[in-house]
Amino acid sequence: MSTGSPRVLPADSGIAEAAAVLRTGGLVAFPTETVYGLGANALDARAAARIFEAKARPSFDPLITHLADPAELAKLVGDVPPAVAALADRFWPGALTLIVDRPAAIPPIVTSGLATMAVRVPDNEAARALIAAAGVPVAAPSANRFGQLSPTRAEHVVRGLGAAVDVVLDGGPTRCGIESTIVDARGARPVVLRLGALPVEELEDAVGGPVTVRPGSSGQPVAPGTLAAHYAPRTPLRLVAGAQPSPGDGVRRGFLAFRERPAAEYAAVEVLSAAGDLTEAAARLFDGLHRLDAAGVDEILVEPVPEVGVGRAVNDRLRRAAATFDPAG
Ligand code: TXA
Ligand code: MG
Repeated sequence: MSTGSPRVLPADSGIAEAAAVLRTGGLVAFPTETVYGLGANALDARAAARIFEAKARPSFDPLITHLADPAELAKLVGDVPPAVAALADRFWPGALTLIVDRPAAIPPIVTSGLATMAVRVPDNEAARALIAAAGVPVAAPSANRFGQLSPTRAEHVVRGLGAAVDVVLDGGPTRCGIESTIVDARGARPVVLRLGALPVEELEDAVGGPVTVRPGSSGQPVAPGTLAAHYAPRTPLRLVAGAQPSPGDGVRRGFLAFRERPAAEYAAVEVLSAAGDLTEAAARLFDGLHRLDAAGVDEILVEPVPEVGVGRAVNDRLRRAAATFDPAG
């Protein structure tokens, strides 16, 4: 845990000051439509190194580079494969991260030495204004310590990273609540490297055919957001089929429900979407887990959501959060 507090600035009036911090090698946490990012100047290797330090992130886990405008992609990387350009055209600004060749301007530390770079244009006004004002591409992973719950509010960033970050731009809760979908579209058929806020079904619509989903990487950590154990609260978390009566064993349990408040007694309950809306459930997922984690329970039980659309990404996060405590699960 870092001690001390970062400067917290409103996302609208704080842009100029935050951009100056980025330009001088500092770290700025900022809202995107998915989760809060921990940003540094992507052209500055020392600034990028500070991200790894602040997150206690292993150096093998590459960062996503964020651009203010889709037109910046060709300027930064030169030749963009047509299939990649088509997806950028269709979904940017938005919750889609694309894989391209790493341009020489981006230091290898940003991509953890990979020959490729992950890049996206966030669909959040403050994020794009910040990147535009900084005048540089911004490398930004999620603004949490490695392996822990992703931040969907400025408070989550302050609590998790403390003074390890120089400035936090507070833009309120993020709209999607779950990370971007990462796609490698350089080959014959697009491959989803990480399920995320952009549903696979929408990608398939866009390309007019099936895409391959690679849920985990075998061997090399292609996308460590896909490590078996990730996105985890501090409290042990278990995936269950649904709410069940308490076994009466004195264990204090919290329950993360999809749509219905369980009839059984729990010490704390979070309902993701009373309307049964998966987009709303995704938006509330990490916030609900943060709250249950802070509720002082011994164990958190979660039930899966329907395995369609963004529900697939929600279940993916739940399985990984559970895996930290139950290697068999
Ligand atoms: O929604 C998001 O994508 C958020 C916001 C801040 O934009 N960012 C985010 O970053 O989720 P992070 O670092 O938590 O996850 C980035 C993932 C990592 O798992 C990383 O390994 C993968 O992207 N990645 C980065 N570069 C890659 C590359 N060249 N090839 C494959 N995966 C890559
Ligand atoms: Mg992350």
